[in-house]
Amino acid sequence: MKLYEKLVDDLVRLIESEVLRPGERLPSIRQLARSRSISPGTVLQAYGVLEDKGIVEARARSGYFVASQAKELFPVPETYQPGSLSTPVDVSELVFRILEAAKDRHVVPFGSAFPSPLLFPLRQLSHAMSRAIRTLDPWRTVEDLPPGNRQLRRLISRRYLDSGCTINQEGIVITSGALEGLNLCLQAVTSPGDIVAVESPTFYGALQAIEAHSLRVVEIPTDPRYGVKVDALEQALKRHPIRACWFMTNFQNPLGSLMPEENKRALVELLNRCQVPLIEDDVYGELFLRGERPPPAKAFDTEDLVLHCSSFSKCLAPGFRVGWAAPGRYTRQVRQRKLITTLSATIPAQAALVTYLERGGYERHLRRLRHALASQQHAMLTAINRYFPSGCRVTCPDGGYFLWLELPTETNSVEVHRRAMEAGISVSPGPMFSAHRGFRNRLRLNYGHGWSQRKEEAMQALGAIIADHDG
Ligand SMILES: Cc1ncc(COP(=O)(O)O)c(C=O)c1O
Repeated sequence: MKLYEKLVDDLVRLIESEVLRPGERLPSIRQLARSRSISPGTVLQAYGVLEDKGIVEARARSGYFVASQAKELFPVPETYQPGSLSTPVDVSELVFRILEAAKDRHVVPFGSAFPSPLLFPLRQLSHAMSRAIRTLDPWRTVEDLPPGNRQLRRLISRRYLDSGCTINQEGIVITSGALEGLNLCLQAVTSPGDIVAVESPTFYGALQAIEAHSLRVVEIPTDPRYGVKVDALEQALKRHPIRACWFMTNFQNPLGSLMPEENKRALVELLNRCQVPLIEDDVYGELFLRGERPPPAKAFDTEDLVLHCSSFSKCLAPGFRVGWAAPGRYTRQVRQRKLITTLSATIPAQAALVTYLERGGYERHLRRLRHALASQQHAMLTAINRYFPSGCRVTCPDGGYFLWLELPTETNSVEVHRRAMEAGISVSPGPMFSAHRGFRNRLRLNYGHGWSQRKEEAMQALGAIIADHDG
């Protein structure tokens, strides 16, 4: 082992054991060189390696610091190469079985799709709901039919400005959660038998919707850090008559990837050129843990071909089932489909959200929520580094509440799920996220729940199960 590698190892160990904590200053290059009798160049080389891995940060004129969030001490998973053929979809059985298991509140919820319900402003929401019901004008039950509550659409339209989009309230349709919006958009732009491009891996809700509408998918390679690969999509567009794309550009589920702005711009330019609509699922856009709210691809759309969908489910009010679609040139079709399918999203819930949002406090709540998620992410990454066998890879996303793990090659994540459930721990195995049932040795873990001794022990048990399978 070279001198600088030994130093890297020692420092990683000190960070893992929290002798050196996030945000703390590392010894100066000169100090460390003197105390270890090595050259300053060797220290610099070691700090460079740690910086590349995101474990330490260099700050101008101040020296080196332990990164404020635990970054990946394990490397990031590789981009998966799915088959290039289009395929029908059949994921429902596996997904139902696993979601059912994650519903029990006594199970450690690493496999859950949801953040802890305790992270939301329950008292303020319940005040807003009772006020909305007390003061509801009976005519609202008629007037708030699709496209939905006018004030709520105005407030959503104002928030779009902050994320770089100009969408007026007439371009917004309120739906029962984002999932309904996404489904309605999919129906508006496809017919049975059409091909839809999805990320690989992708949110199983997208696969289920595609299955339910008798569509076929082409899976596009997706980088665990930077999202869908635009050049691979370009190739797929040449090979297949792709009718629509369904992508998550911000904090993709399950990868947590965030597309850089230039990639989003290139994606939209390509799709605008080919006149292929993009259904953009942006339910995690508000849950950025560092920096500022990333714009959606919709912000770069000059042809009104991006159908942007989001909701309050992940960031404010999970049980209210209020979401929306901004379907661009397909607004009329989506609005009509909403009317003939479920008629409208619940009217008191829409009114309650208006009351809550107008009263103020949403930004404060979001700041708290992001802070909680960031510290839970740190706890889970630290536990992975402590308990999981070497040979694992893990992401360190800048938003959302999922980690994506690549386990040692021979490990079967469905089997890990089975064993973990016996120990009262749920996890989401990789094949849930692919029409091809790929990702056999990948796992999604949820860090959206408050950390506790129980979770720490569950991570230790999970690490042992994985090591056992590997061995
Ligand atoms: C990626 C993604 N899109 C959409 C949804 C559904 O959102 P909603 O609860 O607003 O319908 C979820 C929920 O799990 C999700 O993870």
